[in-house]
Amino acid sequence: MAVLPIRITGDPVLHSPAEPVGAIDDELRTLVADMHETMHAAPGVGLAAPQVGLPLRLFVYRWEDEAGVVHEGTAIDPELFISPTRIDPLDEDEESEGCLSIPGERFPLRRADRAILRATDLDGDRYEIVAEGWLARIFQHEFDHLNGVLYADRLAHPYDKTVAKVIRKKSWGGPGQSWMPGIDDLDA
Ligand code: NI
Repeated sequence: MAVLPIRITGDPVLHSPAEPVGAIDDELRTLVADMHETMHAAPGVGLAAPQVGLPLRLFVYRWEDEAGVVHEGTAIDPELFISPTRIDPLDEDEESEGCLSIPGERFPLRRADRAILRATDLDGDRYEIVAEGWLARIFQHEFDHLNGVLYADRLAHPYDKTVAKVIRKKSWGGPGQSWMPGIDDLDA
């Protein structure tokens, strides 16, 4: 297994729709193992294949809820169905998220409260998860990655302006930039 470099916003692979995975072979199993290791090292609660430079409709996730239950899995060629989103004011503390491709930053974003994920696991079996709260948010965030959408693209005023400023200031936003979990300290 290996930790993979994570692409930073601006790299074209992050901003283009990904392709169906198709066959589950040893190469794919190695990729998925590396993605889980990379997510753990980052650390993050989700990682999509475009973030490691591969335009494939695949993401991994691992999140421990307040009760200590670990929600962990691999979603190959997923579909996602979401409930209508609320329109009451955003709660900056409760509704902020981040992204390993915009490392070290967090911004408030309204997501749907419920999401149904249908995907294939590494054994080739189709499964369905009805998610609420933070797990629903993770699924929406990672699913967006497969369509070339970053959460920065969804931010409302004034956070859209702020994230654009941050990306300029850090000289991101162009092709070919990445960071290495466990080696690069991006919060410094
Ligand atoms: Ni992300």
